[in-house]
Amino acid sequence: MPASPGAAIRFDAVRKEYAGSVAVDDLTLEVREGELLVLVGPSGCGKSTTLRMANRLVEPTSGRIVLGGEDVTDVDPVALRRRIGYVIQNVGLFPHRTVAQNVATVPRLLGWDRRRARERVDELLTLVGLDPQRYARRWPHELSGGERQRVGVARALATDPPVLLMDEPFGAVDPVGRARLQQEFARLQRELGTTVMMVTHDIDEAVRMADRVVVLSRGARVEQLAAPLDVVARPASPAVADLVGRGRTARLLALGRLETADLDPGTPQGTGVGTDTEQSAAGPSVRPTVRLGAELGDVVAALTEVADALDGGRLDVLDADGRAVGTASPGSVVRALHRLTASEDAEA
Ligand SMILES: Nc1ncnc2c1ncn2[C@@H]1O[C@H](COP(=O)(O)OP(=O)(O)OP(=O)(O)O)[C@@H](O)[C@H]1O
Ligand SMILES: [Mg+2]
Repeated sequence: MPASPGAAIRFDAVRKEYAGSVAVDDLTLEVREGELLVLVGPSGCGKSTTLRMANRLVEPTSGRIVLGGEDVTDVDPVALRRRIGYVIQNVGLFPHRTVAQNVATVPRLLGWDRRRARERVDELLTLVGLDPQRYARRWPHELSGGERQRVGVARALATDPPVLLMDEPFGAVDPVGRARLQQEFARLQRELGTTVMMVTHDIDEAVRMADRVVVLSRGARVEQLAAPLDVVARPASPAVADLVGRGRTARLLALGRLETADLDPGTPQGTGVGTDTEQSAAGPSVRPTVRLGAELGDVVAALTEVADALDGGRLDVLDADGRAVGTASPGSVVRALHRLTASEDAEA
């Protein structure tokens, strides 16, 4: 089957067998141009093997992988790997090269002059939160695990490759640094339009960063391929439900947004409200407000600021133009959660 337009990488019935075991059974999967696709699944389910077949560190037993319109088996592996950024599990920095030399590896191979490579190194180290003054001349063994991973990410981005493969790139970074790095990276990826295939064990990292999430089970079987909110709200199989089950409500509060359907019934919506002049006898409205489209978690936070929220107190809900369109109460959050998790059949 030809790759559809906009597909950066296509796995077509790909299988990888090792003596006596099947790492990847029969994988068909498309990574869209410019998207951040996150593979998540249990240890040993075939995530790394899948990534490594895209840049020919592992050759498939059968099936085809098409990258930018070309069958990867037709591309020289060395040339292929220079075109594809790769951040490996456990980093893999060159131990006998400094941080700066590590980051500049591919630029130098591509013949960039020293000055240009040096500028790029400084820029990238800064981006991943390592001060070039302090880190550029250090050796990998002088870094912590998290710092090494940051260098690994900087190295993979050095030539601004169109495709980037990342295998648990932030696993060794502490939770605070990790959240910051995830955000920075996702912002940068969107800005550069890089197509990214990333592997993680961490479902929260997956739903926070991904445009789409692929949940895999043993043999790299696709359990679900969907937007983060869909995976969390409507798991397609017991395996997915298991993965997102614990802490699911908290995840829904972070991913779900307040919609008109969630507002309190019986309140005027859109018309007539916002006529502050009529209510001004009671003084200017000091009721806290939220915007339509606010994260549900922010709605909960705002509700906790409403002293009488449990006794009929309400938040005013404003549209994008700042017009009041109704009110929200704790019930609105419950309605939103029901709405998000209602099955598609029920909605129809
Ligand atoms: N070189 C190899 N020889 C034999 N078996 C292998 C080889 N590489 C991987 N496997 C097996 O293939 C399966 C998938 O391995 P893979 O490394 O892709 O898993 P993974 O999903 O990345 O796991 P983890 O989350 O632990 O990194 C495992 O059962 C593993 O033991
Ligand atoms: Mg792995």
